[in-house]
Formats: sequence, structure tokens, C-alpha cells
Amino acid sequence: MKFFIDTANLNEIKEAQGLGVLDGVTTNPTLMAKEGITGKNNILKHYVDICNIVDGDVSAEVIATDYDGMIREGEELVDLHEQIVVKLPMTKEGIKACKYFSDKGVKTNVTLVFSAGQALLAAKAGATYVSPFLGRLDDISTDGLALIQEIRDIYDNYDYETQILAASVRHTMHVVNCAKIGADVMTGPLSSILGLLKHPLTDIGLAQFLADHAKGNK
Ligand code: E4P
Repeated sequence: MKFFIDTANLNEIKEAQGLGVLDGVTTNPTLMAKEGITGKNNILKHYVDICNIVDGDVSAEVIATDYDGMIREGEELVDLHEQIVVKLPMTKEGIKACKYFSDKGVKTNVTLVFSAGQALLAAKAGATYVSPFLGRLDDISTDGLALIQEIRDIYDNYDYETQILAASVRHTMHVVNCAKIGADVMTGPLSSILGLLKHPLTDIGLAQFLADHAKGNK
């Protein structure tokens, strides 16, 4: 499973990249705003800064909601850096734009996916990635993991190449459960990746090893 980090914070991206397990970055307009990145030129420069840190795909989301605007913005985004993936909303216009870009060989990520039908449509339009929002479904008492499983089954039925990018991952168990289902990629906060390191028996075991070594090497 590929690990993406879902942030626009350069320090967090550097930390995840430094771990040696990072495969890409996803951003969205909320995450950019959270970092105080505003104004077109600053936003475009920030995407390039992210691409220069990570070895892998970087999803940059269009703001336009009409087809022509999405194409215009998407083309501007892909011209920035070869690692850019055009992130498009799961709307009629977004699906048309996805088909346009996939026909041109440009990588796409269809975002804001909350049903298996939407994921099927994204695959038909040739999306590189489809982003079902696991955590946001859990937030409204709907089983987000069940959706990931449904999409996995549908894509496997037809050998669709679209990669399931489990998004809105909130914690370590989301990561583990997505891996069990066979999601191709997960994107979450740095804490969801670092959480995988933790086990009390690891800490206790290491403390014991070091203490025993110290006793024998006084
Ligand atoms: C996906 O690409 C989104 O950026 C994201 O995962 C949203 O997560 P949230 O529900 O935690 O905001």
C-alpha cells in the first residue's frame, strides 16, 4: 500500500519524507488555507515547494466548478511540475474534465467520493486515483470501510486500473484496516503514519535489552 500524507505543511511533509516511507502528498483548499497559503501565485509556488520535497505524486485541487475552468486550471497545475496530479471534484463537470485529462495522459484524482456508484463513474472516466472519504462517512455513523471494500470488489470485477486512495483517514487503525481490504493508497495526517510505530511491548523490550547490555558492559 502506498502512503500519502494529507497536508500542505512543509515541515510535516519533510518529516514523513525523512522516514523513507512516503509515496506522495494530497492537498485540498482547506489544507492550503490552514497553512495561510493564499493568492494564486503563492498557491502555485507552494505546490512546487511540496513537489521538491517528496518523491511521488502531489494532488493539487482545482477551484473552478465549470468544465472550461477546470481544464484551464488543471493545465496550469500540470505545467508546474511533473509530479502534479489534477484533483477534480466528483461532479458531472469534474467527471468530464477527468475524461479529458486521462485521454491526454495526465494523472487525475477524483475527490469527494462517498458512494460506490461515484467510484464506478470515476473509473469509467479513467481516473488515476479515486478518493473515498472514509473518516467523513464514519463521522455521520456510516461505515467508511464498507465503502472501501465495495469499491475494491467492483474494481476487481472489471480489472479497473484506477487506484483506490482511501482519504479522510484519521488514525492508525484506519490505515491498518484499509491495508487489510487492499486499498491501493491511503492518505492521512502524519500522526496516522507515526502511530504505526507504537507498541508498548516494543518500548518495554527495548528498555530491557538496553538495561541488560548496560549490566554486562559496566
Ligand atoms: C482527500 O484528499 C482530502 O484531502 C482529505 O483526506 C480530507 O480529509 P478530512 O475529512 O480529514 O478533512
